[in-house]
Amino acid sequence: MKNKPIPDKPYICPDADITILPMSRNDIDEILEIENVSFPGPWSMSIFEKELKNPFSFPFVARFDKTETKTIAGYIIVWLVAEEAHILNLAVHPDFRRKGIARLLLEFMLDFLAGRSARVVYLEVRRSNISAQRLYMGFGFSEIGVRKEYYSDNKEDAIVMGLEMACKSRAAKVV
Ligand SMILES: CC(C)(COP(=O)(O)OP(=O)(O)OC[C@H]1O[C@@H](n2cnc3c(N)ncnc32)[C@H](O)[C@@H]1OP(=O)(O)O)[C@@H](O)C(=O)NCCC(=O)NCCS
Repeated sequence: MKNKPIPDKPYICPDADITILPMSRNDIDEILEIENVSFPGPWSMSIFEKELKNPFSFPFVARFDKTETKTIAGYIIVWLVAEEAHILNLAVHPDFRRKGIARLLLEFMLDFLAGRSARVVYLEVRRSNISAQRLYMGFGFSEIGVRKEYYSDNKEDAIVMGLEMACKSRAAKVV
């Protein structure tokens, strides 16, 4: 399988003490801890391993620079096929929430996708997940459809959101 193009350098945000890096196999144990407390139907280790091998998948982690071990504060996984991108996963450790880390990850990812000529970005979000919907709306995403009873654990609907890259807006700066 061909190597995936990844950024040459880590993306460092000194204001937030966060560095964004491509996800690696060694990150998965830490990621699973966040995944398991973030979603009713968390992904398994093998799903993350598959994403690392998938040439269309771009997984990144945000590491908090102030701890010795550089704790993983959050992660994002996006597929890019031709000009169409799909956000598959985004989560932030509960201890790091409401500090602008998801916004930072999304901002990084949208720049990354713009650099690879993505034209449109899609995602699904639970109808009840107002926090995430507000986050995405801050970047200019809007509701474009509904997938009825999409989530198997509770048959909740998914709101499909989309963003034309030409319309992406900058959310406020990380604090
Ligand atoms: C949704 C999630 C990723 C947000 O991460 P975060 O780092 O706390 O988000 P940020 O601090 O970057 O917040 C950015 C904006 O998102 C919205 N937001 C985030 N958390 C919110 C909350 N608890 N209530 C309301 N709005 C919220 C706000 O608009 C916020 O801007 P503001 O702080 O200026 O009001 C995080 O809560 C999480 O991991 N949740 C569980 C997993 C999940 O739902 N993932 C998304 C799947 S589609």
